[in-house]
Amino acid sequence: MKILVTGGAGFIGCNFVRHVLRQRPEDEVVVLDKLTYAGRLENLEEVMAGITFVKGDICDGAVVKDVMDGCSSVVNFAAESHVDRSITSPEDFVRTDVLGVFTLLEEARRRDIDKFVQISTDEVYGSTASGSFSEADILDPSSPYSASKAGGELLARSYVKTYGLDVVVTRSSNNYGPFQYPEKLIPVLVIKALGGQPLPIYGRGTNVRDWLHVEDNCRAIDLVLEKGAPGDIVNIGSGNEVSNIEVARRILQHMGKPESFISYVDDRPGHDFRYSLHWERIREMGWEPSIDFDKGLKATVDWYVENEGWWKPIV
Ligand SMILES: NC(=O)c1ccc[n+]([C@@H]2O[C@H](COP(=O)([O-])OP(=O)(O)OC[C@H]3O[C@@H](n4cnc5c(N)ncnc54)[C@H](O)[C@@H]3O)[C@@H](O)[C@H]2O)c1
Repeated sequence: MKILVTGGAGFIGCNFVRHVLRQRPEDEVVVLDKLTYAGRLENLEEVMAGITFVKGDICDGAVVKDVMDGCSSVVNFAAESHVDRSITSPEDFVRTDVLGVFTLLEEARRRDIDKFVQISTDEVYGSTASGSFSEADILDPSSPYSASKAGGELLARSYVKTYGLDVVVTRSSNNYGPFQYPEKLIPVLVIKALGGQPLPIYGRGTNVRDWLHVEDNCRAIDLVLEKGAPGDIVNIGSGNEVSNIEVARRILQHMGKPESFISYVDDRPGHDFRYSLHWERIREMGWEPSIDFDKGLKATVDWYVENEGWWKPIV
């Protein structure tokens, strides 16, 4: 199988490329990535010999046409992904997360690609104080990031009904693990703690996220690639609902630092209070999350401690 992985130099994408090469070394993997601030060739260093890497934009139809040549499936991770940046520069999000998806879909339908997996997010449902979202629930995104992701996935799903393209959408909860760009909560907190700096926590830190280890997510995405039916929407959660303040406390505990490092900062505008998913569909496909949050968090803290050379140039 020849797979096109777009956004494969980013956090989840590079972990997915590793996962595929471990599981099916015979597969051909083509990575298309624009190498924005979030995409880094270093993320693919140890697998570079086993893949074809192309630097390019998913909004560029000519590049997309070239890289899709001979591919039977596409997994689209490419996105602008940081909510805070979407508040200050929403145009970039509409461009990549909607127009980029459109450009990929157009080429995919021309070639009648066997399977197109669009990586979406639990943020498209918006926030809920209680209960959990199922795939049939309405979308109510709060930020330009989640709204653009919702636009991209709706467009992708329209290609199933309109053109018969085999599209599957995944909506996962918050990922954590190695290679996550140090603007997202967990790497920010670990790196601040390592430097002996205050750990910035929005508002009172009571916002809740369901933390999913990136390797569990990659396993789930691979299963969806194999077993997803046209038009499927698949939630991927982990049952690790933890408040931001509790995440900060556990990180400090793992690192042997005092809670006095925590520093409250002004809340993010429109900050969703809680995300929560039901994930029966992926369970029916044979998936369960396997990485305990405390163990995964400790391993992630250790990874950042041991890989200062990876994050220092960015910070
Ligand atoms: N990180 C999470 O917790 C999370 C949770 C749910 C869903 N998602 C989704 O998963 C996907 C991957 O997220 P991530 O955290 O790895 O993001 P990331 O920001 O770490 O990586 C995004 C990658 O896409 C590339 N990219 C951006 N614009 C591009 C363009 N126009 N053309 C080609 N490449 C481009 C970047 O260079 C980067 O390598 C995104 O679609 C995101 O919405 C992420």
